[in-house]
Amino acid sequence: MNIILLGPPGAGKGTQAHRLVAGRGMVQLSTGDMLRAARTSGTEMGKQVAAVMDAGQLVTDEIVIGLIAEQLDSNAGNGFIFDGFPRTLAQADALGELLKSKGSRLDAVVEMQVDDEALVGRITGRFTCGECGEGYHDIFKKPAVENVCDSCGATGAFKRRPDDNEAALRTRLMAYYKDTSPLIGYYYAKGQLKRINGLGEIEEVAARISDALDG
Ligand code: AP5
Ligand code: MG
Repeated sequence: MNIILLGPPGAGKGTQAHRLVAGRGMVQLSTGDMLRAARTSGTEMGKQVAAVMDAGQLVTDEIVIGLIAEQLDSNAGNGFIFDGFPRTLAQADALGELLKSKGSRLDAVVEMQVDDEALVGRITGRFTCGECGEGYHDIFKKPAVENVCDSCGATGAFKRRPDDNEAALRTRLMAYYKDTSPLIGYYYAKGQLKRINGLGEIEEVAARISDALDG
């Protein structure tokens, strides 16, 4: 089963993708994570996109479509979870074509609905493990032992994203409403859209996603 997790910054796409990887053996393809990895490894492309990402703007369609195309030949496990991709109509068309060319298809698009006020609270409290990528929150998801990752045991490896500040978040939200939210209608018209309430405990949201995928 190939699915898209669609939602604004802080909707919980990464959090829920990690759970689907662990629970269903699916493979997460996050263009945000791929771009951050390119920055860390200092590639030419990584350097090129750094300022754009930090300001909260969208990277070009060409770059992110290229990143996804490279991954589609990898082992899909029990299916791909597209996290943060597609984000424009051009990316959505490209994904459809890429999957078709591999003899595959998209099974569902899960729109995670979270109001703006909750998004700001989630983003400003977020931190992640630099070793394994597990996501945390100052209030909603603290590690069991301070400074130690629950998932991989790394100590002192937590970090915060440079684009998790109020100014960049405002730009990211604008990009979502202007460029990405048209995808809701696009996938609704294709009969693939499943809307879920993204507010509530992480486990509650996970259960809603499972119901949407299995129902
Ligand atoms: P990307 O990394 O995709 O960021 P984003 O879309 O802004 O989304 P986030 O990762 O911020 O949020 P999330 O939904 O994953 O939330 P999370 O689970 O972490 O993209 C970053 C940048 O890269 C873009 O701005 C752009 O520049 C570029 N880019 C990437 N893809 C691109 C593309 N396709 N095209 C062009 N440019 C692209 O949760 C957030 C916090 O909330 C965490 O702390 C978590 O613990 C907490 N939380 C989660 N669920 C709950 C809950 N139910 N209750 C309480 N807290 C919760
Ligand atoms: Mg994310």
